[in-house]
Amino acid sequence: MSIVRDRTGLLRIGGLSLSELVREMNTPAYVYDVDAMTAAARALEASFGGAPHLVAYAMKANSAGGVVRALTGAGCGVDIVSGAELRLARACDVPPERIVFSGVAKDDAEIDLAIGTGPHGIGAIQIESVEEVARVAARARSLGRTARVSLRVNPSVDLTGATHKNIATGHDAAKFGVPREDAPRAVALVEQSPELRLVGMSAHAGSQFRSTSPYVETARVLFGLVRGLRDEGRARSLAYVNSGGGFGIDYAAPPPLPGGDVATSTSNPWPADFVQAAQAEQRAAGLDDLALYVEPGRSLVAPHGVLLARVLQPKVAARRRWLMIDAGMNDLLRPALYQARHRIVPIQSTLTEETTSWRVVGPVCESSDDFGDHDLPLDPPREVAILDAGGYGYVMANVYNGRQLPVEVFVHDGRVASHTVRVDTDAWVAERARAGA
Ligand code: LLP
Repeated sequence: MSIVRDRTGLLRIGGLSLSELVREMNTPAYVYDVDAMTAAARALEASFGGAPHLVAYAMKANSAGGVVRALTGAGCGVDIVSGAELRLARACDVPPERIVFSGVAKDDAEIDLAIGTGPHGIGAIQIESVEEVARVAARARSLGRTARVSLRVNPSVDLTGATHKNIATGHDAAKFGVPREDAPRAVALVEQSPELRLVGMSAHAGSQFRSTSPYVETARVLFGLVRGLRDEGRARSLAYVNSGGGFGIDYAAPPPLPGGDVATSTSNPWPADFVQAAQAEQRAAGLDDLALYVEPGRSLVAPHGVLLARVLQPKVAARRRWLMIDAGMNDLLRPALYQARHRIVPIQSTLTEETTSWRVVGPVCESSDDFGDHDLPLDPPREVAILDAGGYGYVMANVYNGRQLPVEVFVHDGRVASHTVRVDTDAWVAERARAGA
């Protein structure tokens, strides 16, 4: 398991002690256990039990080359959402046919790139509106190529309480996907376009589901739709159904105690449980001949990364105690954007020290630069690790307040396989000084 606290109280990631690592590393630093990510992908691959499938890793969750290569090496394809991600996937040697492209508003250059990549274009452009059908057809026509497409359907399920509203996508009011009732019309439009080949039907209802029910409901809508089309003798070219990502992790797992306690948070339902639930719907609809695609991002990477930060200083007032750290909302946006709570733990800890509740905050000039209350030693630790930061962490970081992007460290075989270096602020100062000059 990737993150444990050993008997002596040291927090270890992939076997490597973070106390050892922090001596040589600038902070804030994302540290990833690449082997644990690979193992998570392998386990998910195995859960298909030989049935035709593709695990299209949603590379937006963590797009570092080392991570993308590790996961595709473990058998995954990728789900991309931009031309830049497509170029990155190709730079990481992902075969074009193992790439699917989601996104509500692709520009012409991105569509052209997808159609023009490799001898037959990418695996599928996942079309998200009736209007997009004609756009992709026109681009394919002008390039003299056939484009493989999938329709991403909005399953229109009630997601109240299923996840945070900002990451729920499969409900009526969301901008994502072809509205469920328009799906047959969109299929007809695709089938009337000689430049398009309908290879898939997709859905992605949202992220961070902590139960399989919204996923099952989505899969049922999707498979029901495909069954209906098949029964009318339509959609004969379909090769896959894609039930999307959204497999949640347990951000609220207990903090690890000394003695080999595991901090890695993936827990019930496991990613494989989502796959099995979708497979059951597929069987019930009699669609076993189609490949099942899934698009997990977070569940493969988030539990296997931490954000390492130094404590800058405490601030103690009459009734409040803040702990100021050198990582802020620009480095890890999730708490500010989704009121997410990530566990924060010292990188060295014994059971004997006295603890108290500290409000952990960053240096950014925003009240929402706040990681919440955490039980930490009264005598403040010098460094802390913010857990479950391997997904939607670095990828959402920005340079607000003139802060530079955090460092990334890749742990493999119990040692640092590689790391990035912190960009100094000179370039930023020069660029901002030039702007408008
Ligand atoms: N497929 C599509 C079309 C998606 O839009 C997403 C995520 C995924 C797959 C992967 O979902 P996952 O398995 O990671 O839940 N920044 C947010 C999450 C946004 C998810 C966006 N779409 C967060 O930090 O919670």
